[in-house]
Amino acid sequence: MQKVDSFDMVLFGGTGDLALRKLVPALYLRHAAGQIGTGARVIAVARTSITREEYRAQIEASCRAHLPPEGFNAAQWRSFAASVDYVQVDATEAGDFRKLCLALEGREEAVRVLYLSTAPSLFTQICDNLAAAGIVTPKSRVVLEKPLGNDRASAELINRSVGAIFSEQQIYRIDHYLGKETVQNLIALRFGNTLFEPLWRRGRIRHVQITIAEQLGVEGRGQFYERTGALRDMVQSHLLQLVCILAMEPPTSNDPDAVRDEKLKVLRALRPIAGGDVQTKTVRGQYRPGAVNGQPVPGYLDEAGVAADSSTETFVALKAEIGTWRWAGVPFFLRTGKRLAKRHTEIAIQFKRAPFVLFRDTPVDSLKANQLVIHIAPDEGISMRFGAKMPGPRVKVGLVEMDFNYEDYFGSTPNTGYEVLLYDGITGDQTLFQRADMVEAGWPMSPVAGAPPHRAR
Ligand code: BG6
Repeated sequence: MQKVDSFDMVLFGGTGDLALRKLVPALYLRHAAGQIGTGARVIAVARTSITREEYRAQIEASCRAHLPPEGFNAAQWRSFAASVDYVQVDATEAGDFRKLCLALEGREEAVRVLYLSTAPSLFTQICDNLAAAGIVTPKSRVVLEKPLGNDRASAELINRSVGAIFSEQQIYRIDHYLGKETVQNLIALRFGNTLFEPLWRRGRIRHVQITIAEQLGVEGRGQFYERTGALRDMVQSHLLQLVCILAMEPPTSNDPDAVRDEKLKVLRALRPIAGGDVQTKTVRGQYRPGAVNGQPVPGYLDEAGVAADSSTETFVALKAEIGTWRWAGVPFFLRTGKRLAKRHTEIAIQFKRAPFVLFRDTPVDSLKANQLVIHIAPDEGISMRFGAKMPGPRVKVGLVEMDFNYEDYFGSTPNTGYEVLLYDGITGDQTLFQRADMVEAGWPMSPVAGAPPHRAR
């Protein structure tokens, strides 16, 4: 990656959970890797009344807590921290934006990345206030964190209001899953090899399963989660993006719009789940008190900011179907949840069984199907499972596994997804960001009707 010398990143929600746990550590890692020059500045913005020094102490503590020990270097930290400023701004107070103007004075020629890591309900007001304060320059970009609204109407409204101030080329809608190495590798796997393409379709694939299991609970984000739930927090964004990469047709080039056009076609081809299908094709659940590594942890209803009778789901599983010639009849099973037994994210592509059994000692139903498993977390890699003759005088087929592990081949680099995307946002590469029409196509046309909310535990 080339070094970028001069830019200003204005981080709204600078004291929030995401900024402290992921965004600032990712920026520090870019700095430590020599990809960010001394002309770069990070200006954190939030409502909290703290000094720049107090903010620097806060981010140092969170970087030390969230990076592996070998990922933190005190000398590099000092040079990174020197580029970090803090400005107290209430995003709903237009007058407060003057303080931000002052902090940015004389830097009109630098790339300006305005990162909105706040509730989506604030996006419109922040953009309006930025424009009114004259902060939006031709070299400005706005990065919008997910979720973009909470239904199609609110997503359209955000797109319209942000689009009134920034051109589409200036808007970066982020989904950090797309920055993960193994997720990007899916594109290399599909389109950099000829081996898989003939198999990548109905007729060959029986089903696809995508699992994002988390051991964490809502981690102090109860208030946010109450409005969001697993479906909006994870399925509408991360899981659908994975479906797009798995199911899209080969793009005609790696031009950002060529790739995004193909993903959009997948989103548009997803069959809506409505009416009685909600009961038969989806499952929702909510975690109860339990234990993680022997330590007791509260149930969802006991988390701060959660209503005592909340029916918000922390687990969701569903059967998605894509109405295209390539995928008709191939179910995509998606599931995600918090406080599950272990952290485990993977995509399993299950192929059809052999149509006929040749081996006398192997009954038909004991023949296992081939599987291609893409491991995303905590291990990163790909395994292929196929039948092989078990040693012995008779021909008996058993399942064996061929493994590729990222770390063994390429060594380990801390990567949450944000490291790549922050860099792309700064250098202006929109390929891994969502376009307005993609976000809208990811929401159902109208609220799902006909299904009473049900609580499964
Ligand atoms: C975020 C969700 O987008 O992704 C969180 O808001 C979730 O609820 C997180 O924990 C999971 O990301 P990762 O990279 O840790 O799998």
